[in-house]
Amino acid sequence: MGHLIDILPYDELALLPLQTQQHYAALQQTLVRRLQQRQFYDLFPEDDILDHDGSVLVHARAKYPKHIEFFDAGRIYRERCFLAANRVGKTTCGSFELTAHLTGQYPDWWSGRRFELPVRAWACGRRNETTRDIVQASLLGPIAYEGVKKTLAGTGMIPGNLLGRVTWKRGVEDLTDLVKDKHASGGWSTLGMKSYEQGRGSFEGTSQHVIWLDEECPMDVYGECLIRLMTTGGILMLTFTPLEGLSDTVLQFQLTSDKPQLGMIG
Ligand SMILES: Nc1ncnc2c1ncn2[C@@H]1O[C@H](COP(=O)(O)OP(=O)(O)O)[C@@H](O)[C@H]1O
Ligand SMILES: [Mg+2]
Repeated sequence: MGHLIDILPYDELALLPLQTQQHYAALQQTLVRRLQQRQFYDLFPEDDILDHDGSVLVHARAKYPKHIEFFDAGRIYRERCFLAANRVGKTTCGSFELTAHLTGQYPDWWSGRRFELPVRAWACGRRNETTRDIVQASLLGPIAYEGVKKTLAGTGMIPGNLLGRVTWKRGVEDLTDLVKDKHASGGWSTLGMKSYEQGRGSFEGTSQHVIWLDEECPMDVYGECLIRLMTTGGILMLTFTPLEGLSDTVLQFQLTSDKPQLGMIG
């Protein structure tokens, strides 16, 4: 990606009139922001994406067989669990698949579950802070300001140009409540942020098509999530590292012989 930005070497740029330099700098800034807002389109490529020095910027998807298996399993299983060590890309996986459903922009290699129309989805973490700093950050990027108006940088997985109206949660600084996302069909998907800390009661209410739980979840919240998915034929994704041994939520995935809706990758 670098080569697009340093088309004009610095010493040549310095010889141009000041106004042209400023114009060029502004264009560069816009270009950098647009590139940062498009990571979804660059992830899981057919071949390695190389930097101009030959180093790998984004690895080919063939190097992530577990991730692809997780996506594919969505065609078969209503509930999926990606159980793996830290830093292997579980959050990235959940964030990527959720973005595909929210935008309807499935990559051409996608062979997982598909929704044809805009979806309602939840992305969830254990506490308000981790939901904001991990789940929200991975989907939407950091908080940004337009003048005094608080908004989102749009440099997370959901392409920034597809973000619509944002509402904020009360009582938790910088945590979004609902974010509208432009869907390929022309309508808008709705992304809600939830944390288990808010209790099972806060998971009651509207039906959802996709629920992503990025940390291990109490059984009562898990059960409530399943109810939200019932009328839509929706799906649930659970991605996490079992730091505290295997809990009931995970154990149910290991006893899957009598539960054909459960898929375990790990
Ligand atoms: N498919 C991928 N291609 C390139 N980088 C990836 C991929 N998956 C994860 N990463 C990078 O690896 C790091 C760890 O990923 P993350 O999803 O946070 O892991 P985990 O949730 O398993 O701890 C992040 O910096 C992320 O950007
Ligand atoms: Mg993670």
